[in-house]
Amino acid sequence: MKLLVTSDLHLVRAWREMVLKALIQWVREASPDALVVAGDIAVAAEADTVLGELRRIFPDGPIIIVLGNHDFWGGALAGCRTLAATVERFWQVPAERYQVTLLDQENFYSDELTFVGGYGHYDLGFAAPGLRYEGKIVTREHYLRGRPPIESPLRWRDFDWMPGVTDVPKIAHAQVEAVQSKILATSSRRIFVVLHTPPFEELLGVPDASMLDLNDPPIRAFFRAYLGNRAMGDMLRLYSEQIAGVVCGHTHRAAGPVDLGGFPGFNVGSDYGAPRGFVVDTNEPTIGIRSIPELVI
Ligand SMILES: [Fe+2]
Ligand SMILES: [Fe+2]
Repeated sequence: MKLLVTSDLHLVRAWREMVLKALIQWVREASPDALVVAGDIAVAAEADTVLGELRRIFPDGPIIIVLGNHDFWGGALAGCRTLAATVERFWQVPAERYQVTLLDQENFYSDELTFVGGYGHYDLGFAAPGLRYEGKIVTREHYLRGRPPIESPLRWRDFDWMPGVTDVPKIAHAQVEAVQSKILATSSRRIFVVLHTPPFEELLGVPDASMLDLNDPPIRAFFRAYLGNRAMGDMLRLYSEQIAGVVCGHTHRAAGPVDLGGFPGFNVGSDYGAPRGFVVDTNEPTIGIRSIPELVI
């Protein structure tokens, strides 16, 4: 099975046309059997528009997606109190209308393998330990508020826009349990895992935390906490015999393909208005992953 895999398309008006053009060209060049998008497709209110666009670009084959943190943005404003409520209110109907498989809700079964996945969230497990800014140590409370301990215009914006996000550990844990239950629901010997947030350090695409000067770190080091879900990776390792590959996005930094202990994984690495895509051939025994040259439009 040949997959066209991408992520973090962020199909908001500023660059929607440009990104869709790239996608059209990739579909034409690769003639994939299925299209896979690892989250951050747009924002909740744009769900119908963007899923319709994806279906127009890829009219016949399976479209398999997971949601990203931005896809939940706006849910809280609309009165949704949980991520699940945002999915139901904004994504479920368009997904059915355009026959898009939302892995957050169900697995996708092909003859060869089962696609399992979901959003993922962050469990603060990739935070750099012992960070200090101007002598002030960063505590768990800072992370749970999304703000570093010093004056900075930077904050983790999910806290303004996603429902229920102040309960970071609870959401992260629920995401791990949801993906695990979907793994357990398949009897397939081969699983292709699609997540928005990276489950492994190797897929963050940022320098190792040990490279940081902990007493004078750059402000971006604070935001490492929100890059992925370490407990998700620990859970996935229990099923490494079954896993054929893992793909993620979210950090906007490419990583891999890398061997994660018997199975390959990669982070797509799309950035705002700068999409990246991969062709993944899932044929046995090992899957082949080839990046599509970046397009200049
Ligand atoms: Fe993103
Ligand atoms: Fe994201």
